[in-house]
Amino acid sequence: MPSQLLATKSIADLKEVEPGGHELRRALSATALTLLGIGGIIGTGIFVLTGTAAADHAGPALVLSFVVAGLGCTFAGLCYSEFAAMLPVSGSAYSYCYATLGEAVAWFIGWNLILEYLFAVATVSTGWAGYVLSLLEQFHLHIPDALSHAPLDQGAHPLDIVRTGAILNVPAMAIVAAVSIVCYIGIKQSSVFNSVIVAVKVIVIVIFILIGVGYIDRANWHPFIPPNTGEFGHYGWSGVMAAAAVIFFAYIGFDAVSTAAQETRNPQRDMPIGILASLVICTVLYVIVAAVLTGMVSYTKLSVPAPVAFALDQYPSLRWLGLPVKIGAIAGMTSVMLVMTLAQARIFFAMARDGLLPLWFARVHPRFRTPSTGTAVTGVAAAIVGGLLPVRILGELVSIGTLAAFVTVCLGVLVLRHTRPDLPRPFRTPAPWFTCIAGAVVCAAMMLSLGASTWLRLLAWTVIGVLIYGLYGYRHSRLRASGNARDVPAVTTRS
Ligand code: ALA
Repeated sequence: MPSQLLATKSIADLKEVEPGGHELRRALSATALTLLGIGGIIGTGIFVLTGTAAADHAGPALVLSFVVAGLGCTFAGLCYSEFAAMLPVSGSAYSYCYATLGEAVAWFIGWNLILEYLFAVATVSTGWAGYVLSLLEQFHLHIPDALSHAPLDQGAHPLDIVRTGAILNVPAMAIVAAVSIVCYIGIKQSSVFNSVIVAVKVIVIVIFILIGVGYIDRANWHPFIPPNTGEFGHYGWSGVMAAAAVIFFAYIGFDAVSTAAQETRNPQRDMPIGILASLVICTVLYVIVAAVLTGMVSYTKLSVPAPVAFALDQYPSLRWLGLPVKIGAIAGMTSVMLVMTLAQARIFFAMARDGLLPLWFARVHPRFRTPSTGTAVTGVAAAIVGGLLPVRILGELVSIGTLAAFVTVCLGVLVLRHTRPDLPRPFRTPAPWFTCIAGAVVCAAMMLSLGASTWLRLLAWTVIGVLIYGLYGYRHSRLRASGNARDVPAVTTRS
């Protein structure tokens, strides 16, 4: 039994196209992938979480927190690139683990990717709803609180959930439904829609930087690292790390590029470009936004739901920019949900194709050629979660699940270099011993900076996952049924 849990899938098997027409449409170029990455990255993290991270943890050193989180993501991104170019399949980290660390670890990672993508859609939908409510208020339109807020919230104890009196967060559910329909219709349409939205949010951020830089008061940058208060994570270097763990959420999404491998025209070349270009562009934008934001306003005032708009409001001559920034933020969060929904559906697709979930999840729509059932399940589940729970319960859970996947991918690259040095690697992670270990260490350090309640929720999620694997996946695994593990020596590369 233990050896069966460690069974790895052969590379050729991973790349096998599902019989019966289960093939996705290959429509994406390197540019489209980069836009997909940026579409998945810039959203709630920069527009919402930046303020509390500066005010409660890092002060102006938020800039360093973005560098730390960006470094961890860059190392992980290099590892993702090696895998994604070598194994251009739709299952991302889940499939990479299936080929390297065995079925049980693959299931664990696939289960964590559900935590990442599906719950990220829900998390961002609540942030989206907050911005939309504030925009509507600006035009004197009001949605009753009972229909625009989560009915459940965090209680006094970390694991307490209390009722708020609200009924449902209807705007959050509505946006999840709309995004799911776009994804259901097709990757090509989704890609065009995504590109337009990405353009809007990047333009808004660049305008904020260009105009905001003229309003920086250098006094706001002193002290750059406020002294620690005596409590772990409250300023000082521990605060820089705590803020890095919080704003890590802002980087989540670049890995989603790798889930579109089977819809990419030339995955060996375009995957690394898409992953790394989107990551570098966003890291640069984030670091500059953090510097401008904490330069425009004292970090002590930034604990607000919309810190970027708040900073502009501090200067009467800049108030006109508030409206476009809100529109950009709303657009940004919409594209994040779009990318995450696409990614989640493809993870379901890969897991079901392997027999670890019912085959029903791998159904490809005959006309749209999208993973339609996975998309529908993602939409319904994310709408329910987003309609019921607030952002603060969901956000850290998403981060810890993602970080666990990143650590595993970093280590997986090293394992595969050792076990299958012969495989063609169109992209090779540079200095793998350093890059992979540094990536795993930085991501693990961020995991450790998250609270005990998040770890307990991760544990609960893992227990549920183990039960599902034991009761369904283990019994229905196609790999075990075929007895086909590791029997195909070479990888077939696409020209
Ligand atoms: N990186 C995404 C965001 O910040 C999840 O919304």
